[in-house]
Amino acid sequence: MKPPDLKLRLLADHHRLEKLFTLVMDAFEADAREDTQRLWTELEHGLERHFAAEERFLFPQFDPLDPAETAALRAEHVTIMRQLEELGVGVDLKLVRAEVARAFIDSLRAHATREDAVLYRWADESLETGASQIVEALSDD
Ligand SMILES: [Fe+2]
Ligand SMILES: [Fe+2]
Repeated sequence: MKPPDLKLRLLADHHRLEKLFTLVMDAFEADAREDTQRLWTELEHGLERHFAAEERFLFPQFDPLDPAETAALRAEHVTIMRQLEELGVGVDLKLVRAEVARAFIDSLRAHATREDAVLYRWADESLETGASQIVEALSDD
């Protein structure tokens, strides 16, 4: 039995990350370096936890239904985590320009929008098992 608030809980985690995206960009644009580093670390932890929950509890069940979409989302996770790591080095060295950060944040937003439209709608309607676990995994902050 899935918790009644599954879709709300999933969307809430995207909203939580979205607020962080905005704070990160504000810090970049203000050239507030300490804030940028602190928020970037929060972004790393937030995305790691969020992606891990999706990869563990959503993708395996969605894969048989829509292998192409699941593969595309997995590939986006890989690309995002690689960019996050590469840019993180630059953030530590204060070498990342705001335009580069903006392009990355835009790709994160596009990923979230794509999931909202297909993966999260499916999860809300049809997730068979693991709904409680994913809610718990996302709440663990
Ligand atoms: Fe994702
Ligand atoms: Fe997501």
